[in-house]
Amino acid sequence: TPVTDATPVKTPTLPDAQTVTSVQHYTDRLFSFRVTRPASLRFRSGEFVMIGLMGEPHPETGKQKPLLRAYSIASPSWDEELEFYSIKVQDGPLTSRLQHIQPGDELILRPKPVGTLVHDALLPGKRLWLFATGTGFAPFASLLRDPQTFEDYDEVIITHTCRELGELTYGANLIAGIKEDEMLVELLGEDNLAKLRYYPTTTREQSPKMGRITDLMRSGEVYADLGVPQISPETDRAMICGNLDFNLDIKALLEGYGLEEGANSKPAQFVVEKAFLD
Ligand code: A2P
Repeated sequence: TPVTDATPVKTPTLPDAQTVTSVQHYTDRLFSFRVTRPASLRFRSGEFVMIGLMGEPHPETGKQKPLLRAYSIASPSWDEELEFYSIKVQDGPLTSRLQHIQPGDELILRPKPVGTLVHDALLPGKRLWLFATGTGFAPFASLLRDPQTFEDYDEVIITHTCRELGELTYGANLIAGIKEDEMLVELLGEDNLAKLRYYPTTTREQSPKMGRITDLMRSGEVYADLGVPQISPETDRAMICGNLDFNLDIKALLEGYGLEEGANSKPAQFVVEKAFLD
């Protein structure tokens, strides 16, 4: 679109500046926001970038350094904006400030996407499991809006374990939204969307399905609920994104089933990434 008098052109005041376009708060600990996307930024769904704000001035020199953290891109690779899903830590160096951003504000975004939660790091399989806790849902929010996720598998199961129901909202809305949004249904395919299964659980507030997903796997309850066989290296592939203990526990469970961890350089049967905490 041509630049007219009606379109004010803002001079970026930060290195790698992008502009916030919308912000949504879910609980006192969780929010999501969207920012403009650098025209040259290409990424694979599931990857992360470094984002942040300018730090406080140095007390003596007055110099400011960027304060950056790794954030999974929650939007799909075809989206014209970038979306992020974040915790708010009241005394966290970055998120104590980031939680106050408003549309029109700028943040720093280093346009160098990397990560292991990508289709390239998995061997072909029949069923894809996406295991998340908390804000670990973010990379899956990207992958669930990528047609390849459904083209590559017969079934896609996403589990999300949170302490409280309110913490499931972002993911629940996103999944409901995919199935209701005409453009997304068209893009992903109605038959493909029928492959998607959502398995949310809470651990500290009453909900239809309670318990840590790890315990539900050990007891076999998740397999019974979904009517699928126990995970096996022949048919199942998995991506893991949550807190550190969770990642290690799921990894151990998957290795117990006989699956091997993959990487970009050596695709295998599952991949792990840690959630990015302040
Ligand atoms: P729990 O309430 O039993 O600790 P957090 O907010 O601490 O990051 O945790 C997010 C969710 O992940 C919580 O529901 C928590 O359950 C669950 N969780 C934490 N650690 C593990 C683990 N090692 N295995 C499975 N679930 C876990």
